[in-house]
Amino acid sequence: METVLSGIRPTGHLHIGNYFGAVKNFLKLQENFNSYFFIADFHSLTTHPTPKDLHANVKNVLAEYLACGLEPEKATLYIQSDVPEIPEMYLLLNMNAYIGELERTTTFKDKIRKQPDNVNAGLLTYPVLMATDILIHRANKVPVGKDQEQNLEMARKFAKRFNHMYNVDLFPEPEAFNFGKQLVKIPGLDGSGKMGKSEGNAVYLIDEPKIIEKKVMKAVTDSGPTKKNQEKPEAIQNLFTILKVVSDEDTYKFFDEKYNNCEIRYGDFKKQLAKDIINFTSPLREKILEISSNNDYLHKVVTLGAEKARESASKTLAEVRKHIGFKRF
Ligand code: TYM
Repeated sequence: METVLSGIRPTGHLHIGNYFGAVKNFLKLQENFNSYFFIADFHSLTTHPTPKDLHANVKNVLAEYLACGLEPEKATLYIQSDVPEIPEMYLLLNMNAYIGELERTTTFKDKIRKQPDNVNAGLLTYPVLMATDILIHRANKVPVGKDQEQNLEMARKFAKRFNHMYNVDLFPEPEAFNFGKQLVKIPGLDGSGKMGKSEGNAVYLIDEPKIIEKKVMKAVTDSGPTKKNQEKPEAIQNLFTILKVVSDEDTYKFFDEKYNNCEIRYGDFKKQLAKDIINFTSPLREKILEISSNNDYLHKVVTLGAEKARESASKTLAEVRKHIGFKRF
């Protein structure tokens, strides 16, 4: 059976970009695959969270995953730092990762630009840790958003390199996965780029309806189309992209036609968008609150998850060690 794996950094709450980019596809796959979903808390250390924030964010993300419909009886749901096999394999894969190729990744270059005072070695070897996450369960499919494409390419490179170096067929080549074929990038509400936790442009699953309304009504627009069927400028296209994932087809068509006929009223359009986002998030929000208050349940889920994840990870690590040549005296 093929294996599917995905993960998220616990740096805040889940937003609708995370949901439509990664979680939604995973939920469908968990039915028929050997599936792993994890919370990448080692990865989140690159930005130096306080101990209190680290724990709170792991708990948020855990409760939010479960509220979205991740089923711990079907999928293995675990916290990365509960699996000591991961740092060991990360160390081993680091020996075959070259500084030059790591320095060239766009995510690393972005980080240098965004946080020049904190260019740590963890950032440089981020793709090696991510490849470890994937390869340690020998995953085939990795549901992620478009921003993770290059990291997946690196994971394939490290998989092939190891197989080739030791003349084995241990790792499959993992592919980034989306049911719609194309990887998704959900834009933010600020008129450009992608929705992100650090960009201040996100709608969170936990947001109260009033907050969502406020955020959407404030979203950047323009003075409206002047020519029929004109191409939508980026800020407007972004709102349509969000509408597409949260609304039904008829609603999308209705506003698309209004735009194309230069009859759109952005106030109405945004009201509808806010309403449909709220319809989508409200039931999840209630579940999140319920699950977060049940510490016993959360404890059970991650304890079982760690056990199952370690079972799989230790099998791969034993193979890796054998191929590298570690032997008992
Ligand atoms: P992270 O925590 O930034 O995001 C988690 C998942 O959400 C997707 N995503 C988006 N998709 C569409 N539109 C958006 N605006 C958007 N924002 C975020 C991301 O693509 C991702 O799938 N490096 C990963 C975490 C990770 C991981 C892994 C993922 C560590 N190891 C192994 C998969 C497999 C990250 O930082 O995702």
